[in-house]
Amino acid sequence: MAAQIIDGTVIAERLRAEIAQEAARYAAQAGHPPGLGVVLVGDNPASASYVRMKRRACERAGLHSVGHLLPATATQAEVEAAVNDLNDTPAIHGILVQLPLPDHIDEETILRLVSLDKDVDGFHPINIGALAMKGRDPLFTPATPTGVMVMLREIEAPLTGANAVVVGRSNIVGLPVALMLLKANATVTIVHSRTRDLAAVIRGGDIVIAAIGRPEFIRGAWLKPGAVVIDVGTNKIDDPASERGYRYVGDVAFEEALPVVSAISKVPGGVGPLTITMLLDNTLKAAWRTLESR
Ligand code: GUN
Repeated sequence: MAAQIIDGTVIAERLRAEIAQEAARYAAQAGHPPGLGVVLVGDNPASASYVRMKRRACERAGLHSVGHLLPATATQAEVEAAVNDLNDTPAIHGILVQLPLPDHIDEETILRLVSLDKDVDGFHPINIGALAMKGRDPLFTPATPTGVMVMLREIEAPLTGANAVVVGRSNIVGLPVALMLLKANATVTIVHSRTRDLAAVIRGGDIVIAAIGRPEFIRGAWLKPGAVVIDVGTNKIDDPASERGYRYVGDVAFEEALPVVSAISKVPGGVGPLTITMLLDNTLKAAWRTLESR
């Protein structure tokens, strides 16, 4: 049977329409829209582009956003001041510190500074800690891993007892998605650059989450027939044949994987649109929680 191609744009569009409705209901009740505060340090073009997309998505869904756009030379104290300002602003319900931060900034201190009830990126060590523990639930889960779980739910992929292989162990995707799959009762293996016989481990995966940031690294022959593949990679590669001279590919060799797998997410237009949607959803949740706790 032909593989199902999972289109994140379609899912995201539906969810964003629901979020926009909820945001309007919130605004009518609270007298102000839900608000997201964004901190961007430096001029990494990919980060700047993500931040622009996130703020535009806020605007479209009826959320208010405030940006602290700091130069690459910003000091630790200046970045901390930006986070504290957002912590102290009642109209801001969620805070996002775009990662990576420049090397001279102590990321852990910054992420720890974000108010727990505004941690819509779910990167505060207490939220990550709760995600890692049995019987505990974090206030928020990170956006990209949550988008992956939404995709798996959409296609009704069975998770309980499934062998899930997560390729990559980053704090932003690999590690938290592995913890979420474990909470969903999958048997989880994390593979990374030091793993021996990577292909053989990946071939055991009923579910494969690719999040290593290497273009078309995972070959079709490494995948188990019938596997469900969620490709988080968005890698820019040269393509002289295209008008722009480049295109985006995932971490999985898509064309090779298609005849092998039962479902695979698109790149681009896969997890990316869902990541932004989950951030909006978390911000809305944070806003409701603030209102209800008054
Ligand atoms: N950098 C890459 N992905 C993300 C994300 O989801 N959140 C933040 N804050 N930074 C990122």
